[in-house]
Amino acid sequence: MTKILMVCLGNICRSPLAHGILESKLPKDRFEVDSAGTSNYHIGELPDKRSIEVATKNGINITGQRGRQFQIEDFDSFDFIYVMDQSNFKDIVKLARNDEDSAKVKLILNESHPNKNLEVPDPYHGGYSGFDSVYKMLDEACTIIAKKLN
Ligand code: 4NP
Repeated sequence: MTKILMVCLGNICRSPLAHGILESKLPKDRFEVDSAGTSNYHIGELPDKRSIEVATKNGINITGQRGRQFQIEDFDSFDFIYVMDQSNFKDIVKLARNDEDSAKVKLILNESHPNKNLEVPDPYHGGYSGFDSVYKMLDEACTIIAKKLN
């Protein structure tokens, strides 16, 4: 089983979308996808209603997800850890215990835009259009990840 973890700050906007999108592109018998936040702000909560809406519009159901915080043990459980922005990257790499842990951490948009270090912008304080554009970016990156892994 190959395991992939999507990480953002709150685990209610971006990473739940990345989680749902990638899961929809990979066979369940060989891949497990999950998501987590670097913060403890939204533990146990449903994804943001705007993320739920944009996912639903695109045929993906993310309402089974609940917010959780990244834990050190996630370095052992997951093969790949995709983060949304530089701040997530710093926060997670800070927790790495060794080079093997830190080597698992990657900016997700480097899959679609290699070596550009682009960020998935935090849509939390904006409107619905921010969620649409986040969805498009994540869908493009997840298509490439799924092709590579599958
Ligand atoms: P996310 O967005 O990291 O994409 O889940 C955010 C959600 C909540 C907050 C910040 C970002 N917040 O500050 O509560």
